[in-house]
Amino acid sequence: MVKICCIGAGYVGGPTMAMIALKCPSIEVAVVDISVPRINAWNSDQLPIYEPGLDEVVKQCRGKNLFFSTDVEKHVAEADIVFVSVNTPTKTRGLGAGKAADLTYWESAARMIADVSKSDKIVVEKSTVPVKTAEAIEKILSHNSKGINFQILSNPEFLAEGTAIQDLISPDRVLIGGRETPGGQKAIQALKEVYAHWVPEDRILATNLWSAELSKLAANAFLAQRISSVNAMSALCEATGADVYQVSHAVGMDTRIGPKFLNASVGFGGSCFQKDILNLVYICECNGLPEVANYWKQVISMNDYQKNRFVNRVVASMFNTVSGKKIAVLGFAFKKDTGDTRETPAIDVCKGLLGDKACLSIYDPQVNEDQIQRDLSMNKFDWDHPLHLQPMSPTSVKQVSVTWNAYEATKDAHGICILTEWDEFKTLDYQKIYDNMQKPAFVFDGRNVLNAAKLREIGFIVYSIGKPLDPWLKDMPAVA
Ligand code: NAD
Ligand code: UDX
Repeated sequence: MVKICCIGAGYVGGPTMAMIALKCPSIEVAVVDISVPRINAWNSDQLPIYEPGLDEVVKQCRGKNLFFSTDVEKHVAEADIVFVSVNTPTKTRGLGAGKAADLTYWESAARMIADVSKSDKIVVEKSTVPVKTAEAIEKILSHNSKGINFQILSNPEFLAEGTAIQDLISPDRVLIGGRETPGGQKAIQALKEVYAHWVPEDRILATNLWSAELSKLAANAFLAQRISSVNAMSALCEATGADVYQVSHAVGMDTRIGPKFLNASVGFGGSCFQKDILNLVYICECNGLPEVANYWKQVISMNDYQKNRFVNRVVASMFNTVSGKKIAVLGFAFKKDTGDTRETPAIDVCKGLLGDKACLSIYDPQVNEDQIQRDLSMNKFDWDHPLHLQPMSPTSVKQVSVTWNAYEATKDAHGICILTEWDEFKTLDYQKIYDNMQKPAFVFDGRNVLNAAKLREIGFIVYSIGKPLDPWLKDMPAVA
């Protein structure tokens, strides 16, 4: 029986390994982590991450050929293939702080693999890493190998949260990069055979190591760039009376452009886009390519602009102050169908509104109060360092309350900000909500999920990203 071990039982390690276990009953899969609470949760009925369809997959395999454990060294020593899926956050200190990837967790995993291994292994980069990381890992492994043969592969993960199970069952492609040596090609073939249990062979791409590493950063940069492009257009639409939905629909019908990933929003979030673009920017700078670095930096600047613009719109619409006003925030996760709040635009929007002394009442169906308070008191970039290493915030943010119900959150509020596109927000009783709010009552739809015309009929003043402005909003100071 082939044995696989995955180091890192997070959003990527957990679901990807569960899918391998499901599709490959002849393979034994162990997912290991240094975080005891995380492993305990994987072994319980309350999994540590919310992902539609994940519970069923885990339940089918756990205890049969899928195991979650904190005994990292034992499982690594026994494995034929070791995936490394630890976090690769943005550095917060020292050389490259605020841009470069922090490979501390990666390096410590590599050193541990070298220490405990007694047999040949294929080591697979699953984490998103800077291009050329495999070279560094090879050095660590070969200098400590005691004659053991390690083959390094890059197999970046392209799943998106909220749709992870579907993405894993039917990936657009699986990318495997390896050395162009007989040993490297044999390792690629071994990993191909794992995926070939359920992925059609023509979707499994083999490349050299550096192409695979760079393709992951490139794919995220291209995706984020589409969102920044449509968000840039949304500002121009508001200024001119064009409708961003109509514009993106017309643009996306060009088959060379395509319709997906063109939804204007309050800004993109999530653990990957910003981190990976910053990482790309840093690599460009280190390679003497400042023009290329500046080009990609703009994707992030536009995203920051969009979040600021939203906050300014809220404040400007409400007589240029939200001091002491209750603002209901509906949605805190970075997208629907996940409880993940890493780099969610809600953090920046809430901080912006708190800066203007608003009182926030926040509701998200999957995010609890502890997480929201932690996010609002954390420093930038601290979020991706393992929870057990993060200092707990000594005090919670006083102007913030968290409810488990949208009606409670909006009661007596002056305005509502929709920051995540949860389906349940579309079907709320907005007449009831309007009746219980202060007047004039505002809705700022940061995800364009509500029917603005119906809300206006009820009496709301409505702002939708990139849509023609209400006369009320036009009369307020210009927002930049
Ligand atoms: P995560 O924080 O959810 O999980 C990482 C886990 O690794 C944590 O549980 C942590 O405790 C564990 N860990 C850290 N060092 C360890 C060590 N030395 N030994 C054992 N366990 C250790 O992160 P994630 O979202 O799963 O992301 C992991 C990697 O995959 C990152 O590089 C990320 O960029 C990439 N990625 C993420 C996504 C996504 O949607 N989240 C998608 C594609 C790629
Ligand atoms: C992303 C990539 O899609 C995935 O391939 C990679 O493996 C990890 O990073 P993820 O961050 O989980 O996945 O979600 P994604 O669906 O890409 O959304 C990222 C952010 O962009 C979210 O905040 C989402 O709301 C926003 N978004 C997405 C838009 O604002 N408009 C869009 O049209 C699409």
